Amino acid sequence: MRIFEWNEQHAVHVPAVDDEHRQLFRLCDDLQRAMMAGAATPEVQSIVDDLVIHTAHHLSHEEREMRAAGYSLYAWHRSQHHTARSRMRVLERRIRRGDRDAALELLEFLSGWLNDHIRLADRMLGAYLRNHQRERSARAS
Ligand SMILES: [Fe+2]
Ligand SMILES: [Fe+2]
Repeated sequence: MRIFEWNEQHAVHVPAVDDEHRQLFRLCDDLQRAMMAGAATPEVQSIVDDLVIHTAHHLSHEEREMRAAGYSLYAWHRSQHHTARSRMRVLERRIRRGDRDAALELLEFLSGWLNDHIRLADRMLGAYLRNHQRERSARAS
């Protein structure tokens, strides 16, 4: 059993981003619980659908923020998002065909990817965005 729980090590200190991350951990936790309880396929599918939608929305949100703030590591960060998008697309297709192993593979993938990506790439982004915001406020005053 994997632990899907947002903690301080995941904090990027940008409230909207932290909220989205919390939600992704929650959905992974829901999916894991459903799998362990032997939930029926439609229930598993509906959590996976939510997870896919929230992930897509979240990654695009961060990418918009990066473009708006002129983030120099945009290409590097976005390529990490692309890795997650393509991996999830393949697994989602398998889950849709009723392959429950693919749901377990999705959890395994996300437990690594979410932790690694948030703790390094997203935290670096969060620091940049906060700094960018501070500079803009200073210029405006
Ligand atoms: Fe990210
Ligand atoms: Fe993120």
